[in-house]
Amino acid sequence: HNMTLSRNHFPAHFRWGSATSSYQIEGAADTDGKGKSIWDTFSHTPGKVKGGDTGDVACDHYHLWEQDLNLMQDLGLNSYRFSISWPRVLPAGKGTVNAKGLEFYDRLVDGLLQRGLDPFVTLYHWDLPQALQDTGGWVNRETAFHFADYAAVVSERLGDRVKHWITHNEPFCTAMLGHLYGAHAPGIRDLKAALQTLHHVYLSHGLAVPVLRQNSAQDAQVGITLSLHPVYPFTDQPEDLEAARRHDGFRNRWYLDPLYGRGYPQDTWERYGASVPDVQEGDLQTISAELDFLGVNYYFREVVQHAPGEGLFDVREVHLDGVERTYFDWEVFPEGLTALLTRVHEEYQPKKLFITENGATYQDEMVGGVVQDEDRRRFFERHLQASLDVLKKGIPLEGYFAWSLLDNFEWAEGYDKRFGLVHVDFQTLTRTLKRSGEWYRDFLRVPVVP
Ligand code: FCB
Repeated sequence: HNMTLSRNHFPAHFRWGSATSSYQIEGAADTDGKGKSIWDTFSHTPGKVKGGDTGDVACDHYHLWEQDLNLMQDLGLNSYRFSISWPRVLPAGKGTVNAKGLEFYDRLVDGLLQRGLDPFVTLYHWDLPQALQDTGGWVNRETAFHFADYAAVVSERLGDRVKHWITHNEPFCTAMLGHLYGAHAPGIRDLKAALQTLHHVYLSHGLAVPVLRQNSAQDAQVGITLSLHPVYPFTDQPEDLEAARRHDGFRNRWYLDPLYGRGYPQDTWERYGASVPDVQEGDLQTISAELDFLGVNYYFREVVQHAPGEGLFDVREVHLDGVERTYFDWEVFPEGLTALLTRVHEEYQPKKLFITENGATYQDEMVGGVVQDEDRRRFFERHLQASLDVLKKGIPLEGYFAWSLLDNFEWAEGYDKRFGLVHVDFQTLTRTLKRSGEWYRDFLRVPVVP
C-alpha cells in the first residue's frame, strides 16, 4: 500500500518540516561574541569525538543561512525546527546579552516567515554555556533558573513571531549520555549526577513554560521534545515481559510521567535506590505545567530480555539478527512509530503530537554529483506511512520533521554519520540535494486539497 502514499492523505494543516540544531550546523564557534559551550570544550578534548572532529565550522550555517532557507523553500516545507545556541545569546549563560547573537536568530525568523516557513524553536539542544558548566552545570539547581531567564530573553525578542516553542530536546540524552555514559558533553559518568541533571532540566522546563507563554501571542504553543523508544520483550515469557516493563521505566516513563503530573514512576525510583534526585517541595507541580504539545523523536525500538544481575534493571538489550539496520546499527522499524504514538496517546493524552525528528544515516556516496540514497528515501516513505496509520486512529498528530535538513556534526560520531536530505561537502561547504530530498520535495509538491 506504499504506492498510494500521498500528501493529500494528511490533513491540509499538517506541518511538514526538517530539523537541525545549533551546534550541529552553525559553526562560527567564536564569531560575533559567542561564548563557549560544553560542546566546544568536549569536541576539543582529545578522544571524545571520532576523528577529532569539532563543530567549529560544521555547515557554516551561521554565514550560509540564506542558502539553507532557500533550500527548504525549494523543498516545499512549511515549517522548520532549529535550536538556539544559548552561549551565542548569553556568552556567560546569564547576565549580559550578546546583541549580535540575538540578531542572528531575529534575521533567521524573519527569513523563514518571508519564505512561508513557520519556525519551531528549540531553546536547548545540548550546547550549555561552558561558564555555567564551570559552576556545576545541570547538577547545580541554579542552572534551572538561568535557563528560565534565557527563555525570557529569547522570547521577549522573538515571541511576536514564533508560534511554537520547544524548551528541551531529548532530556534523556542530556542526562544519560552526558552524565551517566559520558559519551556526550560534559562527559560525566555518575548515575546520581545524571538523575539530578534530569530533575533540574525538568525544573527549568517547568519554569520556562509560563515565561514563553507570557512573551508570545495568544495562539502560541509550548512543548518539549522527548526521545522515546518502544520497548519489546524478546519472548512472551513473563520474565521478559517484566524486564520490558522495567526497561520502559528507564527509557520512557521516567520522562513522560513527571510531565503529565504523575511524578517519577515508583518502580523505577526504587530501582535507582540511593541515586534518586533531590526533589524540593513544589518541583513536581512546576514540572507538570500544562503543555500544548509533545514532540517525539523516533529512531528505533529496543528489544530486551530478563538478565539477572545485569545493570540496575536486570535487563539485557538484544541485538536481533536478520533485521534491517542503518549505518548507526539502529534497527529500521517503522511499525514502532505507530505503536509508540498510539501508546503515548492512550496513556498520556497529549493535546497534540509532533514527530520532531525521524531519519536515518547511511554511507552515502556521491557519484557524478548525485547521491542515490534509495535506502534513506525508503526509510522516510515507510515512516510517513506509519505516521498515516497514526492519523487513521484519530490521534492528534500534527506534523513531521525529517532529521535532518543537512548532513552535519553528529555529536560523538563527528561527520562520519550523515543524516541529511541535503549532502554537505565539508571541504567546500557545497550543498547538494540527495535523491531522498528530491523524493520529499516531489511528495510535498502535489496540490494541497483543502
Ligand atoms: C537525536 C538528536 C539529534 C541527532 C539525531 C540523529 O538524538 O536529537 O541531534 O543527533 O539524534
